[in-house]
Amino acid sequence: MVRRRTKNKRSNTQNQDDDSTLFQLPSRIVPEPRIKSLQFPIWTEKKAQLIERYLYYFVLVTKHGTYIDGFAGPQQPDKPEMWAAKLVIDNEPKRLNHFYLFDSDRTALFHLKKLKEAHPDRDIVVYGGDFNEKIVRLLNSERIKQTEATFCLLDQRTFECHWSSVKALAGYKSSSFKIELFYFLPNFWLERAVSGLRHFDMPQKWWGKTDWPRLFEMNRNERKDTFVQRFKNELGYASVKPWPIYEKQGGGRIMYYMIHATDHPEAPKLMERAYNKAVQPKEPLNQLQFELGLNKSSQP
Ligand SMILES: C[S@@+](CC[C@H](N)C(=O)[O-])C[C@H]1O[C@@H](n2cnc3c(N)ncnc32)[C@H](O)[C@@H]1O
Repeated sequence: MVRRRTKNKRSNTQNQDDDSTLFQLPSRIVPEPRIKSLQFPIWTEKKAQLIERYLYYFVLVTKHGTYIDGFAGPQQPDKPEMWAAKLVIDNEPKRLNHFYLFDSDRTALFHLKKLKEAHPDRDIVVYGGDFNEKIVRLLNSERIKQTEATFCLLDQRTFECHWSSVKALAGYKSSSFKIELFYFLPNFWLERAVSGLRHFDMPQKWWGKTDWPRLFEMNRNERKDTFVQRFKNELGYASVKPWPIYEKQGGGRIMYYMIHATDHPEAPKLMERAYNKAVQPKEPLNQLQFELGLNKSSQP
């Protein structure tokens, strides 16, 4: 269990003029910001670029931050351009201060340790073992400051991320925006994945409740909507948007959704921009600042 924080616990609205926080604290985003039709569908090979691009924008607003990657090993070690953790660490300007990278696989850990060695000037911590256990230890250590803008990628394969971990992350902060989540929800192969299981403790931990079989009675759209509503209603995120990731360039099937859950009013717009621009060259910083309406004082 993650320890409950009682010290300095304030309501979100009490904190609006506290300079130590990054942003004004959330007025709930009601209604959910509207997203225009998606211009350039992202496909599986470009997922890491989407994450990289979003964090490129994120730090322009926050000017600092912590990156947690729960399932961080490279899916294809021979294709570093598709490895989210590497792209995020290499992002310029280097505004993210702390990186917590988890993986349970030996080969993945080898690559993560090499990545850390290649960046001796950055604060990178690699955790070997089950993310669901290790994340609780990290959160309990209170190493991540309550005021630290924090983004967590939960790029599981299918059922590896327990709902209890999602909940612990969402409940960590008591006085500022919740930890932002980018959660992988399988779409196309989920029915097949569950039908191949011999033991059902995996989907049960993934969903965190015994009624998980009802998810497989739904169609894919309903299932995605059920997850989105759960992030909103149970975890209390102000904005939750499912970003479809397609099979191939130009479309095809929706292989999975990346569910973006955030309290920051600017974040959904930045994700929309990242989704539409991830495969294009990065915008120069001064152009971006102008387009995002960031003044000189927020220059990196
Ligand atoms: C889909 S891959 C991650 C891909 C990665 N985000 C990238 O950009 O290439 C999932 C990773 O999760 C790891 N994994 C699986 N179960 C895990 C667990 N319980 N705890 C931590 N890592 C786990 C696997 O070893 C694998 O490296």
